[in-house]
Amino acid sequence: MPGATARAGANVALVKYWGKRDEPRNLPAVGSISITLADLVATARVSVGVDGADRFSSRGEPVSGMAGDRMAAHLDWLATALGATERLTAEIETTFPVGAGLASSAAIHCAVAAAAVSALGVSIERPELSRLARVGSGSAARSVFGGWVEWHRGERADGEDSEAEQLLPESEWPLTLVVALAHEGAKEIPSRDAMRHVSRTSALYPGWIGAQEEDLAAMRAAIAARDLTAVGTIAEENCLRMHATTLAARPPILYWSPVTVAAMEAVRGLRGGGCEAYFTIDAGAQVKVLCAPENLEAVARTMSEVPGVVRILRSALGGGVEILEGPTPWK
Ligand code: PMV
Repeated sequence: MPGATARAGANVALVKYWGKRDEPRNLPAVGSISITLADLVATARVSVGVDGADRFSSRGEPVSGMAGDRMAAHLDWLATALGATERLTAEIETTFPVGAGLASSAAIHCAVAAAAVSALGVSIERPELSRLARVGSGSAARSVFGGWVEWHRGERADGEDSEAEQLLPESEWPLTLVVALAHEGAKEIPSRDAMRHVSRTSALYPGWIGAQEEDLAAMRAAIAARDLTAVGTIAEENCLRMHATTLAARPPILYWSPVTVAAMEAVRGLRGGGCEAYFTIDAGAQVKVLCAPENLEAVARTMSEVPGVVRILRSALGGGVEILEGPTPWK
């Protein structure tokens, strides 16, 4: 049966995407900057024209509910955008927990978009793939590229200028990330629901939007200078400002658990002891800690000792999406 397989890494935003200017196209209200991860990876196989098969399965099990509906909608969008009349189906596997605030949707939708393009034999360049991945999950736009990545807000109503670009390859500044899991697999309020709610009800949302350009400019400069102190400081401030918008929503959303707060304190403690480490938190309770490779084990040990942390994941920075089987669509 015709098909192709692609692999993409999850990414973690250091300057966050939070809020949309267009929901169906996943056009962001703000630009964002992220790192792509080598060790939290999704592999997707997309098949063309298979009748009767599940639209979306994970490790051989059909995926229903919201994730299933989102994937079906993304597959239909991809087919239309790529000029295909056949039905597309996707099977995925991941190396990390799905739906636990670990940006699994970014890796999955990016890998699916790349596999669909390859399976249909279409030639496109990575920026265009970024736009196709974006429609499945906004943050998927960034997983197309490796290393340090910026996703542009864009101005156009059709979203043709809202795509990611690489700021720096992973080899140019290979930092590492520790993820401290505050729970396994518990459901969070999905980021798209929270973004809609916050943009409609939070008194702090306009302030969030107003501060983002300054953070983006400062983060670009800090990355270009390989300045970990500046990168980490901006990332923590940006993360806390994003979470402040959720706390000010009506009704409020609090993503943190006591374990999250204890993990943030542990990161501050590491810095107090002379070990440079910085946290960021997405739409969930998990705490991600950025540090230099030589501090990875010390940071992982400290985070594993935080009461309530159930598991530690480690990752290096990784490359962009790859085709494992099928024609490579880009030069
Ligand atoms: O791409 P989505 O819809 O899963 O939204 C991601 C939102 C955050 O993870 C909170 C921030 C980001 O930029 O990844």
